[in-house]
Amino acid sequence: MRLFGRTMTAAAVLVMTTSISFAEDVEVLHWWTSGGEAAALNVLKDNLGSAGTGWVDMPVAGGGGEAAMTALRARVTAGDAPTAVQMLGFDILDWAGEGALADLTATATAEGWDKVVPAALQKFSTADGSWVAAPVNVHSTNWVWINKAALDATGLAAPTTWDELVAVLDKMKEAGITPLAHGGQPWQEATVFDGIVLGMGGGLYQKAFVDLDPAALGGPEMAMAFDHLIKLRTYVDDNFSGRDWNLASAMVINGEAGMQMMGDWAKGEFLKAGKVPGTDFVCIRFPGTQGSVTFNSDQFAMFNQTDPAAQEAQVAMAKAIMDPVFQSAFNVVKGSVPARTDVSNEAFDDCGKKGMADLAEANTAGTLFGSMAHGHAAPASVKNATYDVITAAFNGEYADGAAAAAALAEAVAAAQ
Ligand code: GAL
Repeated sequence: MRLFGRTMTAAAVLVMTTSISFAEDVEVLHWWTSGGEAAALNVLKDNLGSAGTGWVDMPVAGGGGEAAMTALRARVTAGDAPTAVQMLGFDILDWAGEGALADLTATATAEGWDKVVPAALQKFSTADGSWVAAPVNVHSTNWVWINKAALDATGLAAPTTWDELVAVLDKMKEAGITPLAHGGQPWQEATVFDGIVLGMGGGLYQKAFVDLDPAALGGPEMAMAFDHLIKLRTYVDDNFSGRDWNLASAMVINGEAGMQMMGDWAKGEFLKAGKVPGTDFVCIRFPGTQGSVTFNSDQFAMFNQTDPAAQEAQVAMAKAIMDPVFQSAFNVVKGSVPARTDVSNEAFDDCGKKGMADLAEANTAGTLFGSMAHGHAAPASVKNATYDVITAAFNGEYADGAAAAAALAEAVAAAQ
């Protein structure tokens, strides 16, 4: 056999055939590139490896996954979809609507996923009655991560209301540290805003971000939420613009900053740095939101493949993701909580246990909402329009909160 102008020996042909049929590989597109995220990803890689499935990595850095979704679109357009893709909320439903996703229903039915995956997640794992994604976790965005020593130095308790929060931030400012570690990227501002709006009440969150009600989007409560956001801008340092979220986490970890308002993937960074909840850092729900949860669930969607071996690898990956033992091991490292209701909280630290209890409580109470910031409240077009107004407001482009709220109502209406 001649290939690339060389005559190949039978042995070389054999090696080549072997590597071509090394088809128990999955190529995985994801955005888990920070220290904590990579540590969690390794748990998944190892789990798959022990099941005999190889891993071809396609990382696309960028918190929140916007860059990853752009890369995905390019790959699919080129007719070269990756085997498996990390994906959030409405993006999954959009791709399912395009007919691009493999049907995982046979595996899901055989393994009884519908009995253990909460309905709020199944809304995004299924389309037209078929399973199209396997959920690996449940994150939530309404958290604040506080450096314990910096909090103790204020002489104040962890804040439970907006006014208490402002008092703590003021004290930290007086003490000469950056009160709020923030990365100036639209998705990070939106993540902070998730907490602020939820703090105004679950009713506003639902009406504005899920129902897209113009009166709620442009009304006085939303105006107050924007005033709060504009106030928070006064507590960040001069270098916040463009900063990655994990570098903001590092500022809190190092005691350079007092707190970060971020989803519980931030906990993954604290743990990776050897920090202990309750001793080195404190996790609280965004002031005023205890009892409610804004969630985002990372799911893996499988893109249609024609090669049966590739299809087999997809099924193996889906099964590995849904394995309850893996779901505990992975989420302990990632900072999230399991996407199955039958996983014990035993291996989780206090913040993880709280996350699991809060999620269950909110689910029962009807106070569990899909995160606007992470694509679980509305499709991407609306999300992006919302981001634009939030970021402009954070950067002082509106006279006040009322002007920002009016702009939001207009932007969301135009995006639909
Ligand atoms: C979220 C994702 C998390 C975390 C975060 C920062 O959208 O759900 O798993 O990775 O982005 O990258």
